[in-house]
Amino acid sequence: MAAARPLLLLLAALGPAGAVWPQPLRQLSPPAAGRCPLSPGLFRFSYASGSAVGPGCAVLDEAFQRYRALIFGAARSAESKQPWRKPCTELSVLVSTPGCDGFPSLNSNESYKLHISRDSLLLYADAVWGALRGLETFSQLVGRDENGTYYVNETEIVDSPRFPHRGLLLDTSRHYLPLKAILQTLDVMAYNKLNVFHWHIVDDPSFPYESFTFPELSKQGAFNAMTHVYTASDVQAVIEYARLRGIRVIAEFDTPGHTQSWGPGAPDLLTPCYLGKDPSGTYGPINPILNSTYQFVTSLFQEVGAVFPDYFLHLGGDEVDFTCWKSNPQIRAFMEEMGFGGDYTKLESFYIQRLLDIVSSLGKGYMVWQEVFDNRVKVRPDTIIHVWKNSPPYKEEMANVTKAGYRALLSAPWYLNRISYGQDWMAAYQVEPLDFTGSPEQKALVIGGEACMWGEYVDVTNLAPRLWPRAGAVAERLWSDATVRNLQDAYVRLASFRCELLRRGVQAQPLFVGYCDHEFDGF
Ligand SMILES: *[C@@H]1O[C@H](CO)[C@@H](O)[C@H](O)[C@H]1NC(C)=O
Ligand SMILES: *[C@@H]1O[C@H](CO)[C@@H](O)[C@H](O)[C@H]1NC(C)=O
Ligand SMILES: *[C@@H]1O[C@H](CO)[C@@H](O)[C@H](O)[C@H]1NC(C)=O
Ligand SMILES: *[C@@H]1O[C@H](CO)[C@@H](O)[C@H](O)[C@H]1NC(C)=O
Ligand SMILES: *[C@@H]1O[C@H](CO)[C@@H](O)[C@H](O)[C@H]1NC(C)=O
Repeated sequence: MAAARPLLLLLAALGPAGAVWPQPLRQLSPPAAGRCPLSPGLFRFSYASGSAVGPGCAVLDEAFQRYRALIFGAARSAESKQPWRKPCTELSVLVSTPGCDGFPSLNSNESYKLHISRDSLLLYADAVWGALRGLETFSQLVGRDENGTYYVNETEIVDSPRFPHRGLLLDTSRHYLPLKAILQTLDVMAYNKLNVFHWHIVDDPSFPYESFTFPELSKQGAFNAMTHVYTASDVQAVIEYARLRGIRVIAEFDTPGHTQSWGPGAPDLLTPCYLGKDPSGTYGPINPILNSTYQFVTSLFQEVGAVFPDYFLHLGGDEVDFTCWKSNPQIRAFMEEMGFGGDYTKLESFYIQRLLDIVSSLGKGYMVWQEVFDNRVKVRPDTIIHVWKNSPPYKEEMANVTKAGYRALLSAPWYLNRISYGQDWMAAYQVEPLDFTGSPEQKALVIGGEACMWGEYVDVTNLAPRLWPRAGAVAERLWSDATVRNLQDAYVRLASFRCELLRRGVQAQPLFVGYCDHEFDGF
């Protein structure tokens, strides 16, 4: 007796080879498509003549190597004596805009065109970032016939993302994630065409970021200051690894709440809580009434703003608990002095307002969690409001945020740390980010979304299986056209893509009953 009723037709071989995840905008296959056999020994990627970038462009040079390895694995060139069709031995890449050394941004152009015929294999892109997406697509189109020969079917693909911000949040405070786990996650993000790594790097439980301005923060705030920290060179490694995959790194230093781990390394930063007339020995959120607090955050964000090259920093601002502030007599006196009455959201706003001004003056843009908007903090017009709450319904919040003219980023329905029995990727897949009441102008303010993997119950042992392929459901929702929502079709392609992830060495969990030709073999 099966434990669960199959929701969908079980497909023996788990879907067709060559189905691309996330689904491209347009794909035309000629009715009687021919195929190009590919030789592991002879096949190469090259820069087309006329391309604005050429050899020496690290983003593409390294991508060419990665994708050769991903497509052919360890396959050797033994059979290269065969008469391979010349045109099938080379995929030429033509990038029309120069630029290789920069960082991807919210405005990067990720569009590309892929032309696969027996006469030529061509990839066109506006920028290197689109070329990376096209190489990923090409790698997913390659199959093997019954004799083990690699080949790619003739096809034409025109592709570009629906939303420019397609993120994944990892939480390295509740559990420390080793550098290797972060780098592997970046690899799999690229396979899914996700383009923003939201690094929720510190929080209440631990402070693993090694600051050179304030080294005591991690010395005293990390789980282990030797082994459970991200050094400056670790952080640089993450940023460069991400850049080479067209992924932005947005660091989050959440304040004034979620800062317990900051306390030991930053005297007087946190608010002392009181029990009656005496300090209780415990601490609350950052103390918003001291000048020294603002000196501290200025110096810290000066550093963080320089270390992380993305224009945006994520400043948090969520879930501030007022209990401690209320207990503290100096804070109460300040409230009175400022005329805030008993409204502690005003005190929170007072802090956030000053923080935002500090970060603006550093030449950085910011993203904040929705409470900052809900509490009517005056934010800059280019602020991105990150919607995460489910009650009241997130659709209402998306409507309110965009009505006020701010750009919105959706995460509320995509807390993938939450799991349940069955195919819970489907709920994530069926979300429609623009399904809220609002004008076309409001809808245009939605820049995308992020899947979140909060770390209470997640460390390196279960990170990959919990993320993949479930985060792929979010990736397709954010990349593919709104009309791509058929669950049966998505199941077949996602199951097939998950098999491809196993082949690439990713410990991705199954969707349902079935098997893969290449099972996970990472022991
Ligand atoms: C190539 O096309 C054939 C015929 O449509 C299909 O059966 C096969 O799965 C395709 N292979 C790949 C790798 O796309
Ligand atoms: C990206 O580049 C392509 C090709 O040059 C162009 O057609 C498209 O409009 C660009 N998209 C954006 C968002 O700039
Ligand atoms: C596989 O090899 C057999 C024997 O050489 C040959 O007859 C058959 O056409 C090959 N299949 C393909 C798809 O090339
Ligand atoms: C804090 O700074 C303000 C403005 O610079 C100044 O007026 C005030 O006296 C300072 N407060 C303390 C306690 O130093
Ligand atoms: C959205 O705005 C309306 C009107 O101001 C308000 O009643 C409602 O509570 C807001 N919804 C959310 C989720 O904040």
